[in-house]
Amino acid sequence: MKTATILLAAGKGTRMRSKRIKVLHPLGGKPLLWHALNEVAQLGDVKPTVIVGYQSEEVAETFGEMATYVQQAEQLGTGHAVLQARENLLGHADLVIVLPGDMPLVRAETLKRLIDMQQAHNGPISMLTVIAEDPRGFGRIVRSPAGGVEVIVEDVDCTPEQRLIKELNVGMYCFQADWLWDNLEKITVSPKGEYYLTDIVAIARQQGLSVQAEVIPDAREAMGINTRVHLAEAEAILRKRINEQWMLEGVTIIDPASTYIETGVTIGQDTIIYPNTSLRGSTRIGSDCHIGPNTLIQDSELGNGCEVLSSVVEFAKLEDHVDIGPFAHLRKGAHLGEGVHMGNFGEVKNSYLAPGSKMGHFSYLGDATIGQNVNIGAGTITCNFDGKNKHHTTIEDDVFIGSDTMLVAPLHIGKKARTGAGSVVTKDVESGMLVVGVPAYNLRKLDSEGE
Ligand code: UD1
Ligand code: CA
Repeated sequence: MKTATILLAAGKGTRMRSKRIKVLHPLGGKPLLWHALNEVAQLGDVKPTVIVGYQSEEVAETFGEMATYVQQAEQLGTGHAVLQARENLLGHADLVIVLPGDMPLVRAETLKRLIDMQQAHNGPISMLTVIAEDPRGFGRIVRSPAGGVEVIVEDVDCTPEQRLIKELNVGMYCFQADWLWDNLEKITVSPKGEYYLTDIVAIARQQGLSVQAEVIPDAREAMGINTRVHLAEAEAILRKRINEQWMLEGVTIIDPASTYIETGVTIGQDTIIYPNTSLRGSTRIGSDCHIGPNTLIQDSELGNGCEVLSSVVEFAKLEDHVDIGPFAHLRKGAHLGEGVHMGNFGEVKNSYLAPGSKMGHFSYLGDATIGQNVNIGAGTITCNFDGKNKHHTTIEDDVFIGSDTMLVAPLHIGKKARTGAGSVVTKDVESGMLVVGVPAYNLRKLDSEGE
């Protein structure tokens, strides 16, 4: 059986009080709607359909190939929203799942259970509910004595007795596709001027057809986001889920409450994450690393056995056994070879440091290629920008750069050369040469010991 999924995301989300529509607000480092789309993708079958209205172009741009987009020009209610997808989906699926776009914590397994429920059902509708003390404006499920669902009553339309019902509609349904497409238009407009999808339950019952509902065991999956308060609650739940997953996979997290790992990050066994650490984007961390405390790593790749203390690493690559920090800053294109050491207050951008090289203190390397076993003295700076253009610096193997050297690019420094402390190097240095001064001049040729 083929299953199509429709996610409702045309509404603006007024209570977010934002220029941006609700489903594009960030959650766990991804836009809110991404989470449900990602779970739905695990069901296979037909590409999900997102019903868009407000900021539809931004939504389509954000999620691209993850979904097909259908415009609902006017937000005339959830029933009207689903109807917009009929033309595209008619004849393409046996079952249709409908989900609200603002429930990011739903899990693929729960949706699979919903599909299984409907496959074993002879009526046209299966749905998910939660039992909760706080109704949060959700519709109430009215069941018959036999247990089937009779009707869904919207919060505003409840009688005082119905108001007491604790079983709530979460807005996740699985329909027999043909029946849905034949009956959707029978929904009549509400006094508020909306076509409620929930009214389709009563339509099925009038035809003598059964509607079944099952309670989701973990009500948090049905947490709808309406305000930024809800957004923060969902963030905390998601963070806990992710942290627990990594701990069960063999990662030590010293303080989960202050550890922020985004969906999409991977971490190897026996790595230890210290407090106040954020791991973001597509970051990949190897095994046996020590990360943090007070560290931010964004879209970067770390090998095994790395140590990163109180540092910021963005779009960078660290091979095995690199150690950096405290207060190191790796920017886009920084690539540190095996065993490189980078101490406090260093910055590296768009540069490669070959294995065994060290920059201990207060240095900036930008647009540079550094050979093996190079020592970058304290305060060394590649002057890579002349006000208009960026220039490259190349330093060959076994070079010793004296403290506070200014390397004015473009520049090439040959193997085993040395620069004296405080030199300003404006011309290429041949291998084995010692240069000193401002600007630096050749002092003498070094002997084979580099003396
Ligand atoms: C709906 C249900 C309610 C359920 C609740 C759970 C109806 C009539 N009621 O109420 O029983 O408890 O969800 O979340 O369905 N949307 C559109 N187009 C529209 C209207 C809504 O795409 O014309 C989208 C919204 O962007 C949102 C979702 O559908 O993502 C739910 O709409 P919302 O207005 O929040 O419905 P509720 O009043 O919460
Ligand atoms: Ca809602």
